[in-house]
Amino acid sequence: MKTIIEPFRIKSVEPIRFTTVDERRALLKYAHFNLFAIKSDDVIIDLLTDSGTSAMSAAQWAAVMKGDESYAGSPSFFRFEAAVRDLMPFRHIIPTHQGRAAEAILFSLIGGKGRRIPSNTHFDTTRGNIEGTGAEAHDLLIAEGRNPALDHPFKGNMDVARLDVFLREHGDAVPCVMITVTNNAGGGQPVSLANIRATAEVAKRHGKPFIIDGCRFAENAWFIKQREEGQGTRAIKDIVRDMFAFADGMTMSAKKDAFANIGGWLALNDDALAEKARTRLIQTEGFPTYGGLAGRDLDAIAQGLSEIIDEDYLRYRVRTNAYISERLDAMGVPVVKPAGGHAVFVDARGWLSHIPPLSYPGQALAVALYEVAGIRGCEIGTVMFGRHPDGSETPAAMDLVRLAMPRRVYTQSHADYIVEAFGKVAAMLTSLKGYRIAWEPPMMRHFTAKFAPLT
Ligand code: F0G
Repeated sequence: MKTIIEPFRIKSVEPIRFTTVDERRALLKYAHFNLFAIKSDDVIIDLLTDSGTSAMSAAQWAAVMKGDESYAGSPSFFRFEAAVRDLMPFRHIIPTHQGRAAEAILFSLIGGKGRRIPSNTHFDTTRGNIEGTGAEAHDLLIAEGRNPALDHPFKGNMDVARLDVFLREHGDAVPCVMITVTNNAGGGQPVSLANIRATAEVAKRHGKPFIIDGCRFAENAWFIKQREEGQGTRAIKDIVRDMFAFADGMTMSAKKDAFANIGGWLALNDDALAEKARTRLIQTEGFPTYGGLAGRDLDAIAQGLSEIIDEDYLRYRVRTNAYISERLDAMGVPVVKPAGGHAVFVDARGWLSHIPPLSYPGQALAVALYEVAGIRGCEIGTVMFGRHPDGSETPAAMDLVRLAMPRRVYTQSHADYIVEAFGKVAAMLTSLKGYRIAWEPPMMRHFTAKFAPLT
């Protein structure tokens, strides 16, 4: 059969509350045109993030009931640890309440003033946790990864030659080399197995530990299976094991590729570093056999990890985004190519070319999608990255709108609805206006800024 169907039946549903265009116009005004200020009950299709928004399976809910809430030595922890190790064979698996907590612990130990940490592209919380210690975060993505319209199978790859030069120049200041799979900040683009291996080799040659931010490891493995020579007949589990076989540790948000609503972990091979991490964990998260999570969360993650590597799921997962992306492309909407694993990224600067970057074309598009169809996406552009610590403002590298797909939540008709909404926006494109910021906080302004439409 050619039709790729959702590989599940629905046993429990959450109703969607419908709103009218007029209601949404009023809600937008009330929210000062910031979609983070809209109540989720007032959203028809919520594509703000794929993080923590997955639908859990019947088996995961059953696992929740097995959760053991003992403070120390809970069997839930050992099931969690075994499930992680089955895929990623690290010596030490340290649970945390989410991904950024793992980052905070790691960089509190190896970061600090004068340190430099290279990656393909650091996600914002990773960058924040590195910079928060006084260290510098460096993005060494291949040039192809920075061109939205260019089709390339592994746009998340590290520029290994630049990494080598970077380590030769700054080696003493580098405590580890990182890589993010898939590359969220760069459009959800995958990293090839060959590139992971080459990055690990360069790190090893310079005597540096190699750490993977593995949030979307299963989607990355699926792309490797589809696109990398010699990988097409291999099991996803074997590809995943190979991805992590070259690493000395990982940070993970279980809110992505573990189908959990909360959770994460830090994994390490270095005994001494792991010891320090556990001490820090006790200070900030909890005892090492629960790390800020309930036992039931650990069981949900353990079960989720056995489901995320299912090929029928991954085929449907990646196809949903590719389907929306292809249809938008055919309509003349500029999208980041190829489609990412967890999201479709629309080039708002390219599409709303009459709105200059400092009038926030991404915000204008995100607001228009909500107004016409109740769809909530997320501006990833000048609102998010344009302002600098000294208060000055310049256009971000790109003005994108991310439509992030929660896992197993929406169906084919939801995808068609999203495409139709873009048709409606296309019909009013030239009448869309930019925005100015009426109020903003000193940092991370996109979450709470107040906008006013330009007339
Ligand atoms: N690393 C990557 C690549 C991420 O995408 C995220 C979160 C984190 C680390 C942090 O994990 O949220 O569990 O603390 N990304 C979410 C998103 C928030 O919407 O892309 P966390």
